[in-house]
Amino acid sequence: TPENEPPQVGDLLVYATGARINQPILTDDLPLGGPFRLAFPMDPQTKVVRSQNVNNTLLVLKLPLQSYDPKVAAHAVGGIVCYSAICTHLGCTVSDWEAGPQLMRCPCHGSIYNPRDDKVVSGPAPLPLALLPIRLEGPQIVVAGAFLGPVGEQT
Ligand code: FES
Repeated sequence: TPENEPPQVGDLLVYATGARINQPILTDDLPLGGPFRLAFPMDPQTKVVRSQNVNNTLLVLKLPLQSYDPKVAAHAVGGIVCYSAICTHLGCTVSDWEAGPQLMRCPCHGSIYNPRDDKVVSGPAPLPLALLPIRLEGPQIVVAGAFLGPVGEQT
């Protein structure tokens, strides 16, 4: 079903949680330097939010463009990048933001991911979070391609 499909090119990123759940995340909603927002892809025509597949949980954040290494910078638009939010250890949602060092942290067993170089900093996660290519349409953030690596628990 459409709710289960992986992110499709042209999908809009919408809030996965909070007061504006299912509404588009706008570029100005993202504070420079974090924290990230949790997102799902939504078909802009049918308004179906693809939230029935846990591996569609995304995180989107904005950092200074010059802070990314070249590989990640190639997929950053206006400093905004999008990653899978599903920890590659046992599949928890990576929901914590470490504001000082600007790192993403999984609350289950403490894996820490660096959004700048797409690497695991510490913890049991075997692989980094997969990048999801995006582009901007005005203030909206749109999926521009498939995940660039494996998504979800990696055993
Ligand atoms: Fe994320 Fe174990 S599930 S560290």
